[in-house]
Amino acid sequence: MQINAGVITVSDRASKGLYDDLGGPAVKQAATGHGWKVIAEALVPDEKREIQRAIREMIAKGCQLVLTTGGTGVALRDVTPEAVREIAVRELPGFGEVMRMESMKLTKNAILSRNLAAVVDQALVICLPGKPSGAVECLGFVLGAIPHCVEVLQEVPTSC
Ligand code: MTE
Repeated sequence: MQINAGVITVSDRASKGLYDDLGGPAVKQAATGHGWKVIAEALVPDEKREIQRAIREMIAKGCQLVLTTGGTGVALRDVTPEAVREIAVRELPGFGEVMRMESMKLTKNAILSRNLAAVVDQALVICLPGKPSGAVECLGFVLGAIPHCVEVLQEVPTSC
């Protein structure tokens, strides 16, 4: 099944042009490398409503998978998890658990990320850390479950 993906960078500073968005392009490159078609990209500030609007717009454009990078940390401005949980029909806790456990092998700061995955409408939304390398690493840790998850959410008959 061809997966159409959307990539959202959540960053006050990048959205104000104070520094280049490196996370979005890194996640887009990784997604393309995983065989998905990135059909939408967005750069939004750390604002819940803007994050939610970007996710909904991507789903409306036909994204079955939405990848966000940034805003999962401990700073007061980090609101990506809260924004996604507000519009999700359910959270998929295993994604966050695995992303943190595997990342702990790379950085003790891994548990500072509230990264997660959730279902919004029929799309899989995965919230990755903001650091480009961290985002790509975390995506890699949960890669194996994404195709089946997307199939089930799209109600495509599956073998299991
Ligand atoms: N996970 C991986 N795999 N690699 C990383 O570099 N950075 C950590 C954590 N998880 C990191 C990681 C750090 S330093 C922080 S502050 C949190 O992700 C949250 O990052 P965010 O606020 O940019 O989302």
